[in-house]
Amino acid sequence: MKIAIVGTGYVGLVTGTCFAEIGVDVTCVDVDQKKIENLKNGIIPIYEPGLEEMVVRNVKENRLSFTTSLESCLDDVEVIFSAVGTPPDEDGSADLRYVLEVARTIGKNMNKYVLVVTKSTVPVGTAKKVRDAIQAELDKRGVQIEFDVASNPEFLKEGNAISDFMSPDRVVVGVESQRAQDVMTKLYKPFLLNNFRVIFMDIPSAEMTKYAANSMLATRISFMNDIANLCELVGANVNMVRSGIGSDTRIGRKFLYPGCGYGGSCFPKDIKALIKTAEQHGYSMRVLKAVEEVNELQKSILFNKLNNYFKGELEGKTIALWGLAFKPETDDMREAPSLVLIDLLLKAGCKVRVYDPAAMEETRRRIGDSVYYAQDMYDALLDADAMLLVTEWKQFRLPTWGVILKTMRTPVVIDGRNIYDKNDLEALGIAYYCIGK
Ligand code: UDX
Repeated sequence: MKIAIVGTGYVGLVTGTCFAEIGVDVTCVDVDQKKIENLKNGIIPIYEPGLEEMVVRNVKENRLSFTTSLESCLDDVEVIFSAVGTPPDEDGSADLRYVLEVARTIGKNMNKYVLVVTKSTVPVGTAKKVRDAIQAELDKRGVQIEFDVASNPEFLKEGNAISDFMSPDRVVVGVESQRAQDVMTKLYKPFLLNNFRVIFMDIPSAEMTKYAANSMLATRISFMNDIANLCELVGANVNMVRSGIGSDTRIGRKFLYPGCGYGGSCFPKDIKALIKTAEQHGYSMRVLKAVEEVNELQKSILFNKLNNYFKGELEGKTIALWGLAFKPETDDMREAPSLVLIDLLLKAGCKVRVYDPAAMEETRRRIGDSVYYAQDMYDALLDADAMLLVTEWKQFRLPTWGVILKTMRTPVVIDGRNIYDKNDLEALGIAYYCIGK
């Protein structure tokens, strides 16, 4: 089977590589010449555990190739996955420019049946726009060629994308013809041999499922952040509350960890887009608006704790940040809480020293040299008045406290992910603050 994937961003590259891994002949397409050249040489544009080796291996075994020309592969492929970006517009709604550009290119150049599958997260109704755009081009050419559209939202988590793709909880596919359903069954069957969990549905429902899933997860996080903040005020411990409620199977244990706010490319963008879609239909998503508000406030929680500790006197203090990426195992800085934090610290007159195992370059690209980029996690602590733990990378979990005590000016740790034990740190003479306890 031959397929093309358009867009070699996060979703496109993982999707293409994983399909190649199970034996499909995959062509990945991108307009960015430099990116394609790099990919041909095994240089991948993102940090994702295991992806680089998989790309290199599949290229070597001739199942994965890269091109800038979608036109040139249309005659060979049966399915085209569109995984191009849908950046938020100024008003928060998803910008469909790239999605529709792909559709027009297909309509202009196709000569035989294709199934066009949208993988990008797109508002309800987009598949219809894609279908109309392809048909309009066919009409201009005065030809009649059969095609289908489908919606196949992805649920990959950055840092865990390969195993999420290779053994998914479920695959959601919106289709409107039996032929499309058969093709998608053939493609996904190998991933789910023993336990086939492809859920077929109509296209608008598939489109909506992605937004609803991300909204639900973000709601759980904001809900727990609210509970954590209240726990502090009433003298409760959010860790206990979390295990207490998580053991109710109706609630479940996952995605109940309070912290310094969710970030990343999906939650913030998708929630804004869903609020916008509802507005366009004259409806207000009240819960989601509150979810957003809680999250914005939560991003400054570490700063507020620090400010309280130093009684508002932060001018001239040196503050170390451990972790910059919006979560571990990624170099993604989109909507990362660390950016809000750095901004607040600089405005308060602090010197900021940062360390992240993967996201240093990406941070420098965004904020330049306004902070000191440390050589390693301990270098970040040199003469620091406090350390803020922002991202729970594994290497931060069991540091050598003796070195830390010698390196910092004053031993103050504010733990935005609740990874340390208060009693342990206080026994060492470290002032320790965390979330919700
Ligand atoms: C998310 C969805 O999980 C995925 O299904 C969808 O396809 C894309 O969006 P991702 O953004 O990669 O994936 O990361 P995820 O692991 O879901 O974390 C999102 C944010 O929530 C991170 O900032 C993380 O730190 C935060 N988070 C997560 C919490 O604060 N508490 C939790 O309990 C879980």
